[in-house]
Amino acid sequence: MKLINLFDYEQAAQSKMRASFFGYYAGGAGDEITLRENRTVFDSIKLRPRVLIDVSHRTLETTILGHPTALPVVIAPMALAKLAHRKGEVAIATAAKKAGIIHCLSTLSSTSLETVASVGAANWFQLYIYKERGITTRLIERAAAAGYKALVLTVDTAVVGVRENLLRTGFRPPRGVKAENFTEFYGAKAALRLPAQFSPIDFDSSLTWDDLKWLIANSSLPVLVKGVLRGDDAKRAIDCGVAGIIVSNHGGRQLDTAVAGIKALPEVVAAVGAQTEVLVDGGIRRGTDIVKALALGARAVLVGRPVLWGLAVSAQKGVEQIFDVLKRELDIAMALCGCSSVGEIGPDLITE
Ligand SMILES: Cc1cc2nc3c(=O)[nH]c(=O)nc-3n(C[C@H](O)[C@H](O)[C@H](O)COP(=O)(O)O)c2cc1C
Repeated sequence: MKLINLFDYEQAAQSKMRASFFGYYAGGAGDEITLRENRTVFDSIKLRPRVLIDVSHRTLETTILGHPTALPVVIAPMALAKLAHRKGEVAIATAAKKAGIIHCLSTLSSTSLETVASVGAANWFQLYIYKERGITTRLIERAAAAGYKALVLTVDTAVVGVRENLLRTGFRPPRGVKAENFTEFYGAKAALRLPAQFSPIDFDSSLTWDDLKWLIANSSLPVLVKGVLRGDDAKRAIDCGVAGIIVSNHGGRQLDTAVAGIKALPEVVAAVGAQTEVLVDGGIRRGTDIVKALALGARAVLVGRPVLWGLAVSAQKGVEQIFDVLKRELDIAMALCGCSSVGEIGPDLITE
């Protein structure tokens, strides 16, 4: 099968992967209504292209929190990449470096944050706050020491959403695939400590805005929050001192029937867009999706599952191909909208 777009990579990955592993990546919470909505909202937004503009010289380059990037795309943090390929997060980080984009490593990565850092990509580190605060402070220290450029605190995970397909397939990570960042705390058998919902340790369900302030006070790195879906929450996060906001419903894996990120984006941008950079994720599969997100005020987007599909299909090369496809599609979409640079993408390009 010729792999032309990101949906083709998903199909190819499905045919290569063990069904329960594919299901762990692909699935969402509950009835998967939010998971589907993440796609259908993009499909329903229509573009109003500008014509007769010289677009013969185009660039997709921009900056995110002052960091240069080849395109307005960040790799979303995703747990256990080694389920797709044994080279896991190292292959992803190497592809990110080649593509000139930022890679956000998951706390629950199957490769240690230090090993991933040794690749030399521009990395952010995604974090949860755990019941044992010492684990959190130690991870912050390690990320800073390893050269990570920012911390991303995921705040939509007071408890872990129920992904019913996992209960049906009886998913368990195989031997050798474990949350490597936690071996320091739990020993080499960290994988065995993964409870039913695949978190190596207990998330702290008692977290409040004070804990966000605590994290910011205890971090030398800028902190973004991921998982905000409301303007008022975004404002509170800014008041706490965050460096950026990621509008996200966790790829439909947490609260089912939660609003799609792209639908929540205008409210968040209206609330805090003048003060900070706002990023969005969930269902971004096409160059036109990126144009729509930027037109609605996002600085950049995060792309999740397609990275894992590329990894499953052909390791680092497959991940590189995912970004080649997105780059080509974004370039064409911008040209056809009359935009030579991402800064020219504006709200006038959108119609209901
Ligand atoms: C397999 C998988 C694992 C994920 N693990 C994490 C994680 O550890 N931390 C986190 O903040 N988000 C996690 N996410 C959510 C992603 O960061 C991102 O918000 C979402 O996947 C974006 O939607 P998309 O997959 O439709 O592009 C995960 C998503 C998937 C698919």
